[in-house]
Amino acid sequence: MKVTVVGAGAVGATCAENITRKHLCEEVVLLDIKEGLAEGKAMDMNQCATLNGFNTKVIGSTNDYVSTADSEVVVITSGIPRKPGMTREELIGTNAGIVQTVTENILKYSPNTIIIVISNPMDTMTYLSVKSSGLPKERVIGMGGLLDSSRFKYRLSEAIGCSPLDLQAVVIGGHGDTTMIPLIKHATYNSTPVTHFITEDEQVKVVEETMLGGATLTKLIGTSAWYAPGAAGAFLVESIVRDQKKLFSSCVYLDGEYGQSDICIGVPTIIGKNGLEKIIDYHLDSAEKVKFDASAVAVRNMNGALKDLNLI
Ligand code: 2OP
Repeated sequence: MKVTVVGAGAVGATCAENITRKHLCEEVVLLDIKEGLAEGKAMDMNQCATLNGFNTKVIGSTNDYVSTADSEVVVITSGIPRKPGMTREELIGTNAGIVQTVTENILKYSPNTIIIVISNPMDTMTYLSVKSSGLPKERVIGMGGLLDSSRFKYRLSEAIGCSPLDLQAVVIGGHGDTTMIPLIKHATYNSTPVTHFITEDEQVKVVEETMLGGATLTKLIGTSAWYAPGAAGAFLVESIVRDQKKLFSSCVYLDGEYGQSDICIGVPTIIGKNGLEKIIDYHLDSAEKVKFDASAVAVRNMNGALKDLNLI
């Protein structure tokens, strides 16, 4: 089995490395437009085989899509990352053309693959990939909610003073600083609502810190984060290639679910060997529903820029 990761920057390389550590496939192709970058990082990762105990072979490629042929799953991370003070949305002008070209090239050699989109602004890039690939909606999945939910559990664990592993918590909506919706009332600490353990003020703080999770890291590091985004990409690949049918939030094309159509946005999903296997219909209360609709308006406005750029 082969998995391709397009973009050998920090997120792409971390995703590829996590895939090797988890022994998810025989071959990972790491592809980048920059001469030698993917080959170099692939060689570096291959030299970890005896140290980390894996048999997966990493193949680096400078923009040669022939090497990606017959990939089961392709993860797209290409594009420029955020700089401090930038929103994910500001990246659209540069990243949209890149994501469309990558999608088209991938499909020439892996026409039935499952595409995972990580490039930002992720909801709009996923929508663009659905539109330009013509793949069934089950086979194009944006990675955002899984990462945001992991950041949500981290913040909750700090506030409660427990292990993140004992928490169940989901973020839906767009993957933007103002569009994501951490569903705090649905979150539990081993089946007990987290609202039993932290005050309302603490809950508000946790939600705010979760929403600014990416921006906080960008400010500290000087560029977008990569450990958790790369790990989340590999987690999603694992759910597909091992047919785990895990339930987590993903950005998928909606066809009436949650009252929305012709949009890709984060909702609870089951992910297995066919990609998107099911969208789970959470019972949102009226305040959550208002937030979800507002998030969809913002994502839809961003998608409008694709028309202005003549990409759809
Ligand atoms: C993040 O939130 C890269 O969008 C990603 O860190």
